[in-house]
Amino acid sequence: MKKITLLFIVLYCFTILTAFGTNPKDYGPHKVYLFAYATEKDKGHNGLHFAWSNDKKNWFAIGPEHSFLKCDYGRWGAEKRMLNPFLFKDNAGIYHCLWSVNERDNVLAHAASTDLVNWNRQTYVPVMKGGNVENITVSANNGSYVINFTSNGKPYNTTTADFKKYTDTKSSATAAAAKGTVIIEGESHIGTITEVDYSVVENLVKTVQSVKYKNEHNKTSPESDAKMFAGLKSLQAKITVDASQSKKISNLLTGVFFEDINYAADGGLYAELIQNRDFEYALSDKESKDKNWNHTTAWTGTFKLDSVNGIHANNAHYAIIKNNTVSNTGFDGIALKAGDKYDLSVFAKGAAFTVKLKDATGIILAQANIKPGTLWKKYSAILKPGKTVTDAVLEISTTGETAIDMVSLFPQKTYKGRKNGLRADLAETVANLHPRFMRFPGGCVAHGDGIDNIYRWKNTIGSLESRKPMRNLWGYHQSMGLGYFEYFQYCEDMDAEPVPVLAAGVPCQNSGVGGAGQQFGIPMEHMDEYVQDVLDLIEYANGSVTTTWGKKRAEAGHPKPFNLKYIGIGNEDLITDVFEERYTMIVNAVRKQYPDIKVIGTVGPFFEGSDYREGWAIADKLNLPLVDEHYYEQPGWFINNQNFYDSYDRSKAKVYLGEYASWGNTMYNALAEALYLTGVERNGDVVSMASYAPMLARENHTQWNPDLIYFNGSEVKPTVNYYVQQLYGNNPGDSYLQSFVKLSDNSEVNKRLGISVVTDAATGDLIIKIANVLPVSVMPEIALQNITAKGAATYTVFAEKPDSKTGKPVTTSIPSQQALSKELPPYSFTVIRFKTK
Ligand code: AHR
Repeated sequence: MKKITLLFIVLYCFTILTAFGTNPKDYGPHKVYLFAYATEKDKGHNGLHFAWSNDKKNWFAIGPEHSFLKCDYGRWGAEKRMLNPFLFKDNAGIYHCLWSVNERDNVLAHAASTDLVNWNRQTYVPVMKGGNVENITVSANNGSYVINFTSNGKPYNTTTADFKKYTDTKSSATAAAAKGTVIIEGESHIGTITEVDYSVVENLVKTVQSVKYKNEHNKTSPESDAKMFAGLKSLQAKITVDASQSKKISNLLTGVFFEDINYAADGGLYAELIQNRDFEYALSDKESKDKNWNHTTAWTGTFKLDSVNGIHANNAHYAIIKNNTVSNTGFDGIALKAGDKYDLSVFAKGAAFTVKLKDATGIILAQANIKPGTLWKKYSAILKPGKTVTDAVLEISTTGETAIDMVSLFPQKTYKGRKNGLRADLAETVANLHPRFMRFPGGCVAHGDGIDNIYRWKNTIGSLESRKPMRNLWGYHQSMGLGYFEYFQYCEDMDAEPVPVLAAGVPCQNSGVGGAGQQFGIPMEHMDEYVQDVLDLIEYANGSVTTTWGKKRAEAGHPKPFNLKYIGIGNEDLITDVFEERYTMIVNAVRKQYPDIKVIGTVGPFFEGSDYREGWAIADKLNLPLVDEHYYEQPGWFINNQNFYDSYDRSKAKVYLGEYASWGNTMYNALAEALYLTGVERNGDVVSMASYAPMLARENHTQWNPDLIYFNGSEVKPTVNYYVQQLYGNNPGDSYLQSFVKLSDNSEVNKRLGISVVTDAATGDLIIKIANVLPVSVMPEIALQNITAKGAATYTVFAEKPDSKTGKPVTTSIPSQQALSKELPPYSFTVIRFKTK
């Protein structure tokens, strides 16, 4: 333990010394030179860097690997670039940085900051038609700014007062002034030199130190624990729970996040067993333009594809089989259970045909004969295989010419027996989390890859053949068979509040389709239509059957309203002016027409930074009831930040922690999450909802790891993280009771024991959750004040080796007094529950 503390101190001092270079003398106000430059691909990081100097000769890098401002334009990863930054300070003392985003999009980017550390929102303005923006320099001119730059080697200029609107570019007579070139750590860089107070440099250096320190500090693991806690023996914990000090907390605290990522919908929760049933898979579904991904994917055998006079305009393609046999391989084979009934349906016309389910050896498991007419019609049959297999195929044979489309095989045993329903085992595993709400349909899927890929709920309702399939931003296909009706119905079946999330009129900031797709947003002339779509969704969910959209819900089989209360607008968007304009429009329209609906705001993909700050500022401005926070971090971050919400302003918007997870599926990760959630529960007066993300992942088809529940065609594999979520889901409370813990005089030890005590009004139960993320056991002595334990306690312990990826909690019934003093094993999560009345 001591060794690791010493290591941190040494690291801290080392960082100070290396980052500072030679300090100027420590008296009086003094000026130094600050050099701002960008590094590029070869350095593996994009963004603005600084170096400082006393004499413009010797330069000291600050960082130097730390980017103080990262460009958020363009596709994920290497497409996000900062070229040619120009930094200057205006008369009001605000720093402005202008830069170019790449060699092709003619975009001038801008952000401003008061301290060079915290930057406001970025703007991206395409100032040139044809040609790039290079060699940017800026000069002030009577309250406005002249931006000189070159494009295709020729000089141009444009003028702006606010870095949002620029005058038309004009050719300049002379080339832009050259910027400075300096040598930093032996390498030559081009950038801008600004004179600043030394305190500015000091602040930059401290920022780097703090980031490095925190990063190191968050790198905990079972291995580093073994060093940090070497020699630590079993501990005693005196815990006092005082029922006279309580506060109301959210009764919706834990829920689930559903996104069609990792084949979570088609080939996942949606029980359809035929892949590419509608022959609508397309090359364009995959960014890679995988040649094997097309209208014939998952089908084998010879058939012709046609799209003339198909069954629906949204579903144009179909197959024509001539005297031949074709097979569908499902999603990695079709999993069937002996004796279960499967609904076969197919749109067909032409010659009679046979449908067979065959196992991998060719044995026929079930079959049906269909005699279609000359016009498209839907035919159905029930197939009952006699054998359980995981890798069957569905075979269609004709001796004439037969056209087929929408070939579907559905287990009759879906979740709650719903038609067009959900895979029972998966849906039940999710329902067993006892989620108080479900968010859908994403994630990034909600705002899409480019404007045309924004998820449109209206395309996902109605008859299956009329739904509009779409490319999934995660690189596959969405049939939309699992659509908004099915989502609402699933929420109702699980007794979970539906929380749909709709795009804020802008696509994902990481879009790569249709140019950079960079938050340019739905054109304003189409925004009224988009806003109406949002309003129509509320009518679809809640309107009476006499309304246009309420009627459609009734036609789908649900005349009663779904009682929608929340709607998320936006998903961790880049906060730009384009975003804000559209966002505000949507929020105001919803508020005006549906004042009772709670609109959830969005505050970026991280727990800090520009989008977080700017998103919160918009939430304040619009007085939003809730905002959606996202963060994926190391387990150490969750351990070290368990107080994250303690300082949140209770008078502002509440928090929906819509996406979070620690990076991994080990017990160590699960416990870091359990510990963090004790802090979330403690702050249940400001955090209203929280959902781990992503939730579902089909093995061998993941775009994102870790996930909460893995599966294949026949098995469901909940992770250890799942069991932590389940323990919270099964043990919610609506009042939080203050507790005090006396454990150790070492803060690193103390922070590894998280405790949360709640009461549940409905059952009258007291629930104590204790996460012990220490490699030693802890002997608790829990004293209850102003509340008494009655009867036996339900005692649940989840204890595994920290690197274990398997294991389940074990529940027993023991006398309450014993439960209050039972040893908490190393690396464990314990839930004690008993009656108090
Ligand atoms: O949960 C996976 C992805 O993480 C979501 O789609 C997105 O919102 C976030 O970046």
